[in-house]
Amino acid sequence: MPKISFPKNFVWGVAASAYQVEGAWNEDGKGPSIWDTFSHTPGKVANDENGDVACDHYHRWKEDIALMSKLGVKTYRFSTSWPRILPEGTGAVNKKGLDFYDRLVDELLKHKIEPYVCLFHWDLPQALQDKGGWPNRETAHHFTEYARIVAARLSDRVSVILTHNEPWVAAFVGYFLGEHAPGFKDLGAAFKALHHLLLSHGLAAEAIRAEARGAVKIGITLNLNPVHAATDSKKDREAAGRVDAIMNRIVLDPLLSGTSPILEFKMGKVLTGGIIKPGDLEKIRTLDLLGVNYYSRAVMKHAATIPVVNVAQVHPEGNEYSGMWEIYPEGLYELLTRIWKNYQPQCELMITENGIPVPDGLDFDGRVRDERRIRYLRNHIAQVQRAIADGVPVKGYFHWSLMDNFEWALGYGQRFGLVYVDFKTQKRIVKDSGRWFAEVIRTNGLRD
Ligand code: FCB
Repeated sequence: MPKISFPKNFVWGVAASAYQVEGAWNEDGKGPSIWDTFSHTPGKVANDENGDVACDHYHRWKEDIALMSKLGVKTYRFSTSWPRILPEGTGAVNKKGLDFYDRLVDELLKHKIEPYVCLFHWDLPQALQDKGGWPNRETAHHFTEYARIVAARLSDRVSVILTHNEPWVAAFVGYFLGEHAPGFKDLGAAFKALHHLLLSHGLAAEAIRAEARGAVKIGITLNLNPVHAATDSKKDREAAGRVDAIMNRIVLDPLLSGTSPILEFKMGKVLTGGIIKPGDLEKIRTLDLLGVNYYSRAVMKHAATIPVVNVAQVHPEGNEYSGMWEIYPEGLYELLTRIWKNYQPQCELMITENGIPVPDGLDFDGRVRDERRIRYLRNHIAQVQRAIADGVPVKGYFHWSLMDNFEWALGYGQRFGLVYVDFKTQKRIVKDSGRWFAEVIRTNGLRD
């Protein structure tokens, strides 16, 4: 008997995304995405790595699904590549591209793995970026058309469609920080991009529901971080409040309350220049499933030297850190209970990503003993259970990721998988954490 059990029918899954695993960047009629352009530009990605081949999943998909099946995975969250389906972003459909996802869905169902399809995991068709990308409102309409095409083809077998993965990251890391494609450093463009991403969620939801051949739940997945003040001082607390508004509430409020914190700030109005048109917020507020991607918290202090927001991040002593973030399991509980209390969402709630990069390698006997990942997962999954015990009806948990893959600007250096990938040979090796997670799924809980 597990020590900690989860509700019956709890959804245990693994997640991945098209650009990070597929490879085949220019095969079978696929058009270039902004990530192809960005990663082919020297100096943008660590070691100038790219997703041209990645995990070669476009060719090894059957083997990868068999691996999931072996681990007992019940649900697979993957993304469709917009430029594989519509090479120009709009207009003619690339039949071979759409067929790929059709086959993928059939094979998953054959193994009794439920497909969760995400329509946008950051790989915008380059052709649409050339017309302005997400800061251009038209992109939201093109996205709606793309959503309709995917829904028409897959909704007889797929019952969950997520519109976007982490729209905040797509907007702010891509258009303001410049660390992700398309690599811009324009705050105004980031605000516009975010609004149009959210708007496209609402427009696509309507289109998918109109097109669906079966009952389809519409979801979105958000990167959310509890924001803590570095000290108890009024200035630090206000700094944390500003960051919370600009990172969390900026996506949660429109989706769950039909409001936007942008409208509260003078600066927000200046930067967004009236992009929120009458009726937009009503359109955005439509959701059957809210997916929470959780990795860490943010601890902030007041910093007059940083323009506009006047905040700086601090990294407190005393906790463990990974190659990317502070490890802070309690934050997951805090986040889930906060969403539940503050917003009382009418939709389902799930963890759609959680995981840790570990510098994994093969031991002398070819095994990957990734104790650190197991510890991380055990501690985070326990916090999900704690939230459920306190009344938050969390319906599922997806591990990021099935296998090591292309970690955006960090290239192949950060390994997140339950399965180790030797990128030279494309050999897959199940890590200790993979076997451990399989037990969690099998027993629907934690043994220790
Ligand atoms: C999330 C992304 C996902 C992956 C993890 C580590 O922000 O959605 O693609 O890169 O981080």
